[in-house]
Amino acid sequence: MNIAVASDHAGYEMKKNVLSWLDGHGHTFEDMGPYSEDSVDYPDYARKVAEAVSKGQVDQGILMCGTGIGVSIAANKVNGVRAALVCGPEFAALARQHNNANVLCFSARYNDMDAIGKILESWFSAEFEGGRHQRRIDKIEPCC
Ligand code: RB5
Repeated sequence: MNIAVASDHAGYEMKKNVLSWLDGHGHTFEDMGPYSEDSVDYPDYARKVAEAVSKGQVDQGILMCGTGIGVSIAANKVNGVRAALVCGPEFAALARQHNNANVLCFSARYNDMDAIGKILESWFSAEFEGGRHQRRIDKIEPCC
């Protein structure tokens, strides 16, 4: 699995831990920044990951910011992206099983790495269940 990963300044330290978790669990990844703790704007980084997923350049994305809210809102503006803001392992599994989520988002400020490790384990262990869930996903379209 090839994963695009990015954060904003609030997620910069957590991103390092996430990259080393991915490395240790046999995933390849692209670190899409930022590369320092300087203040940045989360939509710029969410867009990079979301576009890589949308274009099929990577299999999935992982995004984190202070709350995870900003990156998830921004990523979901990109066609074909289903970004899920996840706050625990059960949500991570359900986001994959029911929503076929392709971008995992979480808070870097309100989780420690122990919690994130459990979320990552659960995300990567779960598979999309298809069936009625595919029908529902097919109904998610831009409108208005
Ligand atoms: C940055 O302070 C903060 O607003 C950002 O990381 C994020 O939480 C936005 O949703």
